[in-house]
Amino acid sequence: MPEMRIIRSYVDRANSETIESYIASGGYTALPKALRMDPLEVIEEVKKSGLRGRGGAGFPTGIKWSFIPRDSKKPVYLCCNADESEPGSFKDREIIERDPHQMLEGIIIACYAINAHKCYIYIRGEMPKGARILERAIREAYEKGFLGENILGSGFSLDVILFRGAGAYICGEETGLLESIEGKNGEPRPKPPFPAQVGLFGCPTIINNVETLACVPHIINRGADWFASIGTPKNTGTKIYGLSGCVNRPGLYELPLGIPLRELIYEYGEGTRFGRAIKAVSPGGSSSAVLTADELDIPMDFDSLAKAGSMLGTAGVTVIDESTCMVRVAQNLAHFYRDESCGQCVQCREGTWWLEKMLTRIEEGRGRMEYLDTILDACSQMKGTTICALADGCAMPVESIVRKFRHEFEEHIRLKRCPFESRYMGVWEED
Ligand SMILES: Cc1cc2nc3c(=O)[nH]c(=O)nc-3n(C[C@H](O)[C@H](O)[C@H](O)COP(=O)(O)O)c2cc1C
Ligand code: SF4
Repeated sequence: MPEMRIIRSYVDRANSETIESYIASGGYTALPKALRMDPLEVIEEVKKSGLRGRGGAGFPTGIKWSFIPRDSKKPVYLCCNADESEPGSFKDREIIERDPHQMLEGIIIACYAINAHKCYIYIRGEMPKGARILERAIREAYEKGFLGENILGSGFSLDVILFRGAGAYICGEETGLLESIEGKNGEPRPKPPFPAQVGLFGCPTIINNVETLACVPHIINRGADWFASIGTPKNTGTKIYGLSGCVNRPGLYELPLGIPLRELIYEYGEGTRFGRAIKAVSPGGSSSAVLTADELDIPMDFDSLAKAGSMLGTAGVTVIDESTCMVRVAQNLAHFYRDESCGQCVQCREGTWWLEKMLTRIEEGRGRMEYLDTILDACSQMKGTTICALADGCAMPVESIVRKFRHEFEEHIRLKRCPFESRYMGVWEED
């Protein structure tokens, strides 16, 4: 286990959200170091570290920062994406609630690197506790001179504004988030232009995830080579894996990128509840294609999971055991995405609606065999054809479930009911 704790509260549980505790454990030492560097040097260091965005897509952070024009006549903005609404993901909330200054220090360094003097932290509406903690953390940082005018005498100034969302999943998509801050409906924008050119209020903007920014002080303090030595050559650093579902020890585990899924579930998660067999695993939040029990040796990193037809996404790992009905899983997912679609694209608006409808019919014993190919056809028309990736986020898991567990769908249709309710009755007696 490498010596890097993004969520320090595992070490210092009592008052880890206060600035005093952060400073006492070495916090805010990367900031003066970064401020003595040239901003381009900071970007180079982050590039060299190999840090890839922890918000889902895994785009290299230093490269993203270098897209900001250096000679911009317009203001440059950083938006910290703290919307975290992906089912199965709960890592950013913990960073915010237990260690907000680590993220704030990363924000200040990132703003210095891209020459931004204003940062918006976009926090999900349903996180009132996180918002309260962040408000206090921002106030503390101003009081200590880490925010505001002429930070630590460097001549660099920065204001951080906390913006609370209204609780829509789509506002976590980076351009939906920008629209929301501008006071409009959270409807993603077609790209190009990309936010680094035309972002918030038409100005160059970088959007980064909470965990991504929390990695930055470590990179500056310990160096790019140290960060790059953790994980695999193209998937560097640690990752906070969120383990939930049918496991004995759900929780957040900070481990190197590339650890085998099996190790995460059986060593850290202490195996499945009641020792049941694993049926499927969603490895990267609800939008990722599911894996089967034969695929547990896949390394948990961006490239290996993409090669396996899924994705690391947010690394929110949900374990599904043999007692779970996969038709219900698919129906539940389609319901969520149908509810959260912003409705701009036909494929998404209609596709999520039809998927939910067909899956509900199958689950309730009213399905027909021909639905299965219609579902797969709808999924293929939803992927890569819309303004944002929400439609893909619905199509990918549903398609994988129908392909990998087709026999369960056929059984529902043949029996005209869900076979799972009777099959696992009395399950709690084992508890
Ligand atoms: C529907 C949808 C929802 C998203 N929700 C989030 C979110 O809650 N938090 C987040 O950091 N990224 C989310 N993303 C990814 C962002 O669009 C963006 O890629 C990310 O914030 C970039 O940060 P990173 O480069 O640090 O990973 C979402 C993407 C989509 C398509
Ligand atoms: S894919 Fe769905 S959520 Fe994304 S812009 Fe289109 S309709 Fe809206």
